[in-house]
Amino acid sequence: MRKNLTVCFVAAEGATVIGYFTLTAHALQKHEVSTSVTKHLPRGYAVPVILLGRLAINCTHQGKGLGKALLYGALMRAFTYSQKSVGALAVVTDPVDEHAKRFYEAFQFVELKASNRLFLPMRSIQKWIRK
Ligand SMILES: CC(C)(COP(=O)(O)OP(=O)(O)OC[C@H]1O[C@@H](n2cnc3c(N)ncnc32)[C@H](O)[C@@H]1OP(=O)(O)O)[C@@H](O)C(=O)NCCC(=O)NCCS
Repeated sequence: MRKNLTVCFVAAEGATVIGYFTLTAHALQKHEVSTSVTKHLPRGYAVPVILLGRLAINCTHQGKGLGKALLYGALMRAFTYSQKSVGALAVVTDPVDEHAKRFYEAFQFVELKASNRLFLPMRSIQKWIRK
């Protein structure tokens, strides 16, 4: 945050941080993403996305629904920013290991074959909001 690279959001119990996530403006190259996402992009544009840089829950608080709650908060913020503050087509993240990858895949993130990053289009988030 001191370098203006990201903004960090925390969940706290009193003065103790029990979970957090970060959001950063980011871009992918067109070839990294499916053409269904990029077909309306002007020539020469990169794919604007929001990077969910880190999402982690304190070990003693894992498995209680906090990760899901923070992920939901991150996706709602990213979606709202993309509608009202800064354009973005998707949320992207870099899972730290297989456990984290499966967690994100349970929320419909899909793997980008070119980079092994996980990708969730804003229109998927919008569908959840409308349900
Ligand atoms: C991955 C992590 C964020 C999940 O948070 P959590 O609080 O333990 O998860 P929750 O209790 O909120 O689980 C929410 C849902 O995801 C599911 N889930 C959690 N981990 C999962 C996994 N590895 N694979 C599939 N589903 C998973 C849960 O079963 C639960 O499903 P339900 O809503 O149907 O009951 C947490 O374990 C963590 O911080 N891990 C260490 C750091 C890390 O890996 N961070 C990711 C950095 S990229």
